[in-house]
Amino acid sequence: MGVIERYADRLPVGPSTPLLTLGEGWTPLVRSERLSARLGVELWFKCEFTNPTGSFKDRGMAVAVAKAIEGGAQGIVCASTGNTAASAAAYAARAGVPAVVLHPAGAIAAAKQAQARAVGARVLEVRGSFDQALRSCQELAGRSSYALVNSLNPHRIEGQKTAAFEVIEQLGRVPDVLALPYGGGGNTCAYAKGFAEEGARLRLVAAQAAERAVTLASAIRISEPAHLDEVEELVAAGRVELVTVPDDEITDAWLELASREGIFCEPSSAAGLAGLGRTELDAGSTVVCVLTGHGLKDTAAVDVLTPAATVVEPTVEAILAEVGA
Ligand code: F0G
Repeated sequence: MGVIERYADRLPVGPSTPLLTLGEGWTPLVRSERLSARLGVELWFKCEFTNPTGSFKDRGMAVAVAKAIEGGAQGIVCASTGNTAASAAAYAARAGVPAVVLHPAGAIAAAKQAQARAVGARVLEVRGSFDQALRSCQELAGRSSYALVNSLNPHRIEGQKTAAFEVIEQLGRVPDVLALPYGGGGNTCAYAKGFAEEGARLRLVAAQAAERAVTLASAIRISEPAHLDEVEELVAAGRVELVTVPDDEITDAWLELASREGIFCEPSSAAGLAGLGRTELDAGSTVVCVLTGHGLKDTAAVDVLTPAATVVEPTVEAILAEVGA
């Protein structure tokens, strides 16, 4: 069952909304084995990278594409650092409508573009930034019968807020803290909305890259967050804590997740954990860290961050000489 069906009574959907799904949602909440002890808290990982296209975007995309079709759109369009496009393309293919996706040229992980191409989206690389691509998409959607499915589309936020419901249901209580990466801010706004609808009060820690325009975490390489005003309002209201993390702390958190927990996410996903490292946490408190995208999406980052494989002869001696086992 996907999010439209599971959360029908909490979403703006009705009998005429297509039950579009690729099986998104109900992602694992995995207890941390080692990092809990280091942080002195009870740490959990919300593994959003297990969604059908490998990122958290699928929840909101199921709803946004279904609503676009319900509203008579001929197709969908988005700008993306990769994951939104991969998700939009997959749900469009599933629904049988065309998708046009725009990327900043040469600035996204190759596997994400492969995902969009594989399912038949029209992929355009713009000579410019994500922010410029987004502005063009907004204009295009205004002038055509294609619906914009970036998170400026409120249906994306609606579908995405279901992750907050799940965290409470899976944990059996409201966590004290939830940390996540902050790129454009759609996800931050969605969790804030979801928890508010549940009447849940907690600390929401949104971690942004210190060098937004050039961060190694290409998924959050966004200079002008589309939801900046809303995030600033949430911060002013004490509902979100904004933390800024340098790239070396993001990559350290990424390595720690991989090597100490066995969890392979893409670098941007580790920003939430890096953010926790810059936050005061009460001893023994319950903390959820949202992991947004799959590690397989960005293997170029692995090449930069880990030692290369060693080439050996196919003999026991050669292998033993290398590993010393
Ligand atoms: N993590 C991943 C893996 C992402 O792909 C993104 C955003 C974020 C975190 C940040 O989420 O924008 O809601 O604050 N990716 C967008 C995209 C920009 O086009 O795929 P946000």
